[in-house]
Amino acid sequence: MIRMILRHAKTADAEAICSTVNHHAELGLMLHRSMESIYDTLREFQVAVDDDDKIVGCVAVDIFWSDLAEVKSLAVAADRIGEGIGGRLLTAAIDDAKQMGVKRLFSLTYEQRFFERQGFEVIDRHALPEKVWRECLACLKADACDEIAMMLVLDE
Ligand SMILES: CC(C)(COP(=O)(O)OP(=O)(O)OC[C@H]1O[C@@H](n2cnc3c(N)ncnc32)[C@H](O)[C@@H]1OP(=O)(O)O)[C@@H](O)C(=O)NCCC(=O)NCCS
Repeated sequence: MIRMILRHAKTADAEAICSTVNHHAELGLMLHRSMESIYDTLREFQVAVDDDDKIVGCVAVDIFWSDLAEVKSLAVAADRIGEGIGGRLLTAAIDDAKQMGVKRLFSLTYEQRFFERQGFEVIDRHALPEKVWRECLACLKADACDEIAMMLVLDE
């Protein structure tokens, strides 16, 4: 197993989170995050930190309602993909959601197989509440979104 720790984000991590997410956002794989939005939601983030104290991945859990949350901004440093870091971050996000009492955790993603490995299932995107789509207004693909909606039920 690779050596790294997972922990909740600190303010000093914001720039690394921003550049990790936006690297993949530039490739059209996820939504851009501004520094401001990262500071606003910093308490939602967990980060993966390697032996050299470098941030090599991040994930956030955004609470929508009493029983619903989204896994957001899940990103691994481009030079560390395929080492199991993303899998561990997703597990940590699921645990975080469970601890907060979330019953259903969803994701909008292109990484169907990756999410299926941890029990997420494809759902009809229209089953998600309208509030979910608010952020999409800022996305270039807003009218032609091809992300897959996936859900994990946590209370079974
Ligand atoms: C999606 C993403 C988070 C996955 O992170 P990751 O660290 O690459 O994920 P993992 O390594 O845990 O698993 C990915 C693959 O690597 C394989 N893998 C895991 N550990 C491995 C290891 N030590 N050596 C080689 N391969 C390994 C897994 O089996 C998996 O293979 P598969 O998907 O082909 O079955 C990452 O690719 C990423 O940041 N992508 C861009 C942003 C993005 O799309 N985010 C999701 C938005 S919701």
